[in-house]
Amino acid sequence: MVSASSLLVAALAALVSAAPPCRPPTTPTLPKTGGSTELPAPAANLTLKKIAIGHGIQNYTCDNTTASSKATGAVAVLYDVTSLYPGQGRGRTSLSQPEWDGLPSAFLRTTPLPLNIAAGSKFGANLTDPFPSPPADLTLRGVVAAKFLGHHVFDIDGVPLFDLTAAAGLKASVNKLDGVDAPGAADKGVLGTGAVQWLRLGDSGKGLSVGLSEVYRVVTAGGNPQACAVAGAGGQSVPYAAYYWFYG
Ligand SMILES: *[C@@H]1O[C@H](CO)[C@@H](O)[C@H](O)[C@H]1NC(C)=O
Ligand SMILES: *[C@@H]1O[C@H](CO)[C@@H](O)[C@H](O)[C@H]1NC(C)=O
Ligand SMILES: *[C@@H]1O[C@H](CO)[C@@H](O)[C@H](O)[C@H]1NC(C)=O
Repeated sequence: MVSASSLLVAALAALVSAAPPCRPPTTPTLPKTGGSTELPAPAANLTLKKIAIGHGIQNYTCDNTTASSKATGAVAVLYDVTSLYPGQGRGRTSLSQPEWDGLPSAFLRTTPLPLNIAAGSKFGANLTDPFPSPPADLTLRGVVAAKFLGHHVFDIDGVPLFDLTAAAGLKASVNKLDGVDAPGAADKGVLGTGAVQWLRLGDSGKGLSVGLSEVYRVVTAGGNPQACAVAGAGGQSVPYAAYYWFYG
């Protein structure tokens, strides 16, 4: 059993031990849940632009203690992990498959929530000012382990937005196209509530996207809501991490 913190240390070691390319890169392929239904493949004319880890919160609201919680959005920081994908032709610099598969869970478990937490709240982000400024890379022991790639928010109309403008000149305004349950073995998160669904998201048609037209959320860890009887009426924010695969 590989511990979450040793996975992050392996990621760090991979980044600092830059070795010359020694084999052709493996084309990253989207992971599968192994369930009875998988997410459809991206459109054939699209190419993979970036793979990110998103680490943040999923928001929900409960009308009362006997209601079902309703999803109201998410806030997350995105880190570029494209070069850590196994077999990237960078010698030993990318991760092994088990290390890669465990990375979202490792982020969730071993790195602080990269948000400005609202005063008096455990996981809720500051409403007006959710992100630390300036944006920071994830550093471990003083070395950059994953570079800042962007922010994930829901816009004023409740439409998911991935803003990678500053780091990569890319942006995606998307709607949910498909969703499948996370595998039973997925990390249930810091509240033990379960991993959010894997999703395929497609362009929203709002004309906001730049260089991206599909986004996949996969290998989710945590993020499902507590029952309203436990959470109480009102809003709740649940920490999660996941891979986001960006196609354009
Ligand atoms: C949110 O951040 C602003 C400043 O950035 C601060 O004035 C305010 O008190 C914060 N609110 C909470 C609830 O932490
Ligand atoms: C989620 O809730 C946090 C407070 O916990 C808030 O900062 C954020 O704006 C909310 N986002 C959405 C999309 O609901
Ligand atoms: C892919 O094809 C669709 C129509 O089939 C088109 O709308 C879209 O612009 C194409 N995207 C790229 C990146 O070529």
